[in-house]
Formats: sequence, structure tokens, C-alpha cells
Amino acid sequence: MLAIKNQALRSSFKGTSYRALSTSPVSKTANPIKCVGVIGSGQMGLGIAYVTANVTKLPVVLMDINKEQTEKGLKFIDRLLLKDVAKQKITQEHAEETRARFSTTNTLESLSDADFLIEAASENLNIKSAIFRNLDTICKPEAILATNTSSISITKIAAATKRPEKVIGMHFMNPVPVMKLVEIIPGLATCPEVLETTRTLATSMGKTCTVVKDIPGFVANRLLMPYINEAVMLLECEFASAEDIDITMKLGTNMPMGPLTLADFIGLDTCLAIMKVLHENTGDSKYRPAVLLQKYVDAGWMGKKSGRGIYNYK
Ligand code: CAA
Repeated sequence: MLAIKNQALRSSFKGTSYRALSTSPVSKTANPIKCVGVIGSGQMGLGIAYVTANVTKLPVVLMDINKEQTEKGLKFIDRLLLKDVAKQKITQEHAEETRARFSTTNTLESLSDADFLIEAASENLNIKSAIFRNLDTICKPEAILATNTSSISITKIAAATKRPEKVIGMHFMNPVPVMKLVEIIPGLATCPEVLETTRTLATSMGKTCTVVKDIPGFVANRLLMPYINEAVMLLECEFASAEDIDITMKLGTNMPMGPLTLADFIGLDTCLAIMKVLHENTGDSKYRPAVLLQKYVDAGWMGKKSGRGIYNYK
């Protein structure tokens, strides 16, 4: 039912109808955000789009170059909304209003009306730089360009644009609807007003913000990834089974998940990419990626999303 009701709204994205839906407190700030563009319809992009529409109550344009991915994304959003209605966390009316705030596109050009862009594409500098270079020419001069990179330098990504003062890191945690933290990372040139607008937006999403300097891995992954990497090294050396490593940390330190389950949940390719950034950018051998981590990724065993990682999900 939600899908049918919102078909018209989705197809009218290029018009102005979505603007009328905004009731967010964010729109009352000095730099009003009336529409958010999210680039990338993977697990992070969908989570970010979901909290923007559901909590902040801003219209969202979800962009992915892969049409199938945006279609799958909307189905995932529908499932999240249905689940929240079933759990009586939100009303049916609230769910329908949230769904009506979504539109999708497969081209960056369709994001030209957005005031705040959040990129959540693959963790690869070349891909992100290309996206930011294009966004810089497409988006309004006052639009803020944020990246959900988990480790790449914000300053490097910003250098692909002619507006580095409007580029900022906004690092969400997975699963975005559940995790309360957003790390905000100003690049070398980011201006204070952009930091404040970003903080206001993240707060309106129900998140607590920390501000971190533009260092490899920021804080969350600077601490988390060496921990996961060390767990993979223990496995590689056969010092303990995967299950025993996970049980040790889950029951022994009250973690919601053991490090290897968490690695599969995040994606082994993402963990490897972050370790490589830490290793290459610090030059410190303590961040050397585990050989087994590289091997799993080479085999296409990316974790839960591919059906096989440290554990087999098939
Ligand atoms: N999207 C939306 N909601 C989700 C979800 C998802 N993908 N996965 C779980 N949830 C929700 C469930 O619906 C449930 O909600 P209710 O409480 O309203 O029922 C709640 O989360 C708890 O889920 P479950 O009961 O199914 O399972 P759980 O109690 O084991 O919790 C978990 C699941 C929240 C993922 C928990 O295991 C956890 O906190 N794990 C650690 C997650 C973590 O460390 N994330 C950070 C990763 S690092 C990162 O993201 C940074 C990076 O750059 C790599």
C-alpha cells in the first residue's frame, strides 16, 4: 500500500511537491536544509536515508547508479517501516508520511535541488573523488557535501571539489537506525558554519555527535579495526576457533557481538579497506592487515552480505 501511495511522489521528484513535506526543525536554522540527497543505496546509505526521512522528517533523494539497487533499497525501507509499525514504534500514518518523503534516482544530476548531500558509496578514494568532483558541478553553490567515509581523508576527498570549505565527514555506524553515534570530521578547509549545520542535522536524526580531526580511521575505526584485525590474526594462527574468539569477547567483555561476527556484519572488504588506509597513511606496521583477511576478500567471502565470510551463512 505504501508503495502505491508514494509512486506519484517519487515520480514528481523533479517538481516541487517534496518540499511541502518538510516540517523539520533543521529547516528553521540559518542554513535551511529542505532536502537531503543520499548517494549509495547499500546498507549505510539506506540507513542514513531512513533516519533522515523517519526521524528528521526531511525529504530524501536516494541515488544509486544501479537501478536494481535503488529498487531493492525501497523494499528494504518498506520492510523497516512495516516492522516499526508492527512493533508499535510508529503509527501507520507516520510510516506512510515517512515513505512519502522518499524519491529515487540513478543519476547524480537529479540531486541538483538537494541542500545537503551525504555520500555513502564504496570505500575507495577514486570513486569518492569522482562523485565529489561531479557533485561540485551539479549542486547549488551553498550545498554541503558530506561523506560517510569510514577512514579516507576528508581533506583528500574535498580536494576533488572547488568548495573544500563545504565538505565534511559524517561517519555513521552500522546499523544506522540503531546506533546512536555520528563522528563528524572537518577537513583542513571545512568552515565552522558547515560543522554546525552538520551537527544540527545529525542531532535532528537522534544521534549523538563527536568531533574528530581528520586522522586515518578517525576514532571509531582507529580503535575498532585493529581489534578486529587482531582477532583475524588469532584465527589465522589457529590459537582459537572463530566461535571461541567471539564467545570470549562477547561473554568476557559484554560486547553485543564478538569481533569476527562483527567483521562479517561490517563486511570483510570494508574492514580490509580500512586496515589498508590505516597502514598506508600511518606507515606503522602495527596496522598491517591480517593475511587471512586479504585471502577471504580475494575469495569473495565478504561476510554476511555475500553469504560467506569468517562464518558460512548459506
Ligand atoms: N537495520 C535496522 N534495525 C536493525 C538492524 C538493521 N540492519 N539490525 C537490527 N536492528 C534492530 C532490530 O530491529 C531491533 O530493534 P528493536 O529493539 O526495536 O526490536 C534491534 O536492532 C536489536 O536487534 P535484534 O534483537 O535483532 O538483535 P541484537 O539484539 O543482537 O542487536 C545489533 C543487533 C544492534 C546489530 C547488535 O548486535 C549490535 O549492537 N552489534 C554491534 C554493532 C556495531 O558494533 N556496530 C558498529 C560497527 S562499526 C561501524 O559501523 C563503523 C565502520 O565504519 C565500519
